[in-house]
Amino acid sequence: MLNVGGIMEYSEEIFLHHLAPTNPYPFLIPVERAEGIYLFSPDGKRYTDLISGIGVNNIGHRHPKVIDAIKKQLDKHMHVMVYGEYIQSSSNVLAKKLTSLLPSSLDCLYLVNSGTEANEGALKLAKRLTGRTELVSFKKSYHGSTHGSMSVSGNEIKKTPFRPLLPDVRFIEFNNLADLEQITTRTAGVIMETIQGDAGVRVPSKAFMKQLRKKCDDTGAILILDEIQCGMGRTGTLFAFEQFDIVPDVLTIGKAFGGGLPIGAFISSRERMKELSHDPMLGHITTFGGNPVCCASALSTLEVITEGNILEEARRKGSLLESLLVHPHIRQVRHAGMMFAIDFDSEERVQRIVRTALDNGVIGFWFLSHPYSLRIAPPLTISDEQIRESCAVILKAIENS
Ligand SMILES: Cc1ncc(COP(=O)(O)O)c(C=O)c1O
Repeated sequence: MLNVGGIMEYSEEIFLHHLAPTNPYPFLIPVERAEGIYLFSPDGKRYTDLISGIGVNNIGHRHPKVIDAIKKQLDKHMHVMVYGEYIQSSSNVLAKKLTSLLPSSLDCLYLVNSGTEANEGALKLAKRLTGRTELVSFKKSYHGSTHGSMSVSGNEIKKTPFRPLLPDVRFIEFNNLADLEQITTRTAGVIMETIQGDAGVRVPSKAFMKQLRKKCDDTGAILILDEIQCGMGRTGTLFAFEQFDIVPDVLTIGKAFGGGLPIGAFISSRERMKELSHDPMLGHITTFGGNPVCCASALSTLEVITEGNILEEARRKGSLLESLLVHPHIRQVRHAGMMFAIDFDSEERVQRIVRTALDNGVIGFWFLSHPYSLRIAPPLTISDEQIRESCAVILKAIENS
């Protein structure tokens, strides 16, 4: 094992003792480098990353154009000032490029560092714009782990030890038209994952989305669509809301936005966004939001996603993957483009499949709020041959489960 200044680089003991755990059963894969759809351990073992580092590496690991853009920015400057003061090329060009790809009412970005921060900013904006306090969210949703985002997340078990959380949050059923009646003139904002991720890839109907949009228009509630997991090409369009003929008042993004570096954003109209700059001034601030290296990485990632045929290929490859995922143990396959949930009869079976696939060099995962499903969301750049190869490993793991 490699040794840096007398410290064993990939020591399990250091990892388990000196890095705070998130769960009792971490994967513990030692990763030395990553390229395309593969991770490599120091002993030369290769893993196929079928989860894109949980929705981040949509164009694979270390895309050469992204690496090049990061290096160029490093040679110019890194952090120079907190968000919102200096004019920097990387954030300017990123903002212009991204807003040119969005409806005209989404013409202004507030850059932050993560998905949960994007949602925090969006929730504050909804309160600031409406002067109301009630927030409406959906059962089984996941919006992040900070107090505000957790307050509007629908997984009760995960929230209990951290109460009190935000008051005045109402949860309604995803894709249930009748429940939309609970959005009223008391509601500041409605936050929804356009396609629910951690609930096991739940796709709403177009009728539901249209009615949701109408209900928000009628009541003046701000519609926030969280595309932190389902955005950036994952479902076959740059953003999933494009498939429902509606436009949110606020769009939140993160994960794959940075192409492997941490960056998020909440996006709305200039008109709305300016409200965060007065009464009080500095109503929302961040030190590292819009970090220039992250912006350079995000810009080149956006170019890669939108300038080739990655989006239409994501739709085609999603269908190919679906056609290969056939086995008597599989109860149901749900997918949107390249975002998959594969249902089995038990949580234990999913765990066995994930472990066996991992032993055979293929990384799949589970979902926070839907442990009966296997999670697969490969880099969109995966080839047909790589899809077939990795599916064969998954099917064998299912067979032996
Ligand atoms: C839909 C959704 N929203 C928000 C988040 C939180 O993002 P982050 O972990 O970057 O804070 C996630 C993360 O999984 C997510 O899937």
